Amino acid sequence: MDASDLGSDLERVLLTEEQLLTRLDEMAAKIDVDYAGKNVLLVGVLKGALMVMADLSRALHIDVETDWMAVSSYGSGTKSSGVVRILKDLDRDVTDRHVLVVEDIIDSGLTLSWLIANLRARGAASVEVCTMLRKPEAAKVEVDVRYVGFDIPNEFVVGYGLDHAERYRNLRVVGTLAHHVYGS
Ligand code: XMP
Ligand code: MG
Repeated sequence: MDASDLGSDLERVLLTEEQLLTRLDEMAAKIDVDYAGKNVLLVGVLKGALMVMADLSRALHIDVETDWMAVSSYGSGTKSSGVVRILKDLDRDVTDRHVLVVEDIIDSGLTLSWLIANLRARGAASVEVCTMLRKPEAAKVEVDVRYVGFDIPNEFVVGYGLDHAERYRNLRVVGTLAHHVYGS
């Protein structure tokens, strides 16, 4: 789905498909160098990282294994609580593996810092993070993120895997929604 298909539901396009894919190629080139000769496990965080995982993994030239985790960090509200539940665990053992967590967006950082600690505790040889988007103004905890696509303003965004009530994940661009979309 393109920005034009959304009409007035989309307020503003923050990142075009071309910008997203160009940046992913740049990140993939760095990862190729940094992980040359290493046994890498890409861990995608469902569901938002779906598109990043698909495009990043294909842009890489190194041989990788891929796996997925689903976690829930939200309680009743819409704010991250830091209390994380594993909804779907990894199928692979991470012991002595070089793990690269693939994320769509880092907001407060609470989910990710929990995930990094969890993967380290399982005996991973290394744990690094690659995220397409990051909201620096929303950070509640410092997370050392090795690969960042774009820093964006502290606004709710959709598209390229990111949803609002499970919609707009299939939007090619990343953008903000018009206020009338949020009204029930
Ligand atoms: P924290 O706050 O723990 O949470 O870093 C990160 C997760 O929150 C979701 N999230 C968003 N989802 N548009 C979305 O569609 C956004 O702007 C947004 N900000 C945070 C997302 O699931 C992410 O993994
Ligand atoms: Mg996510």
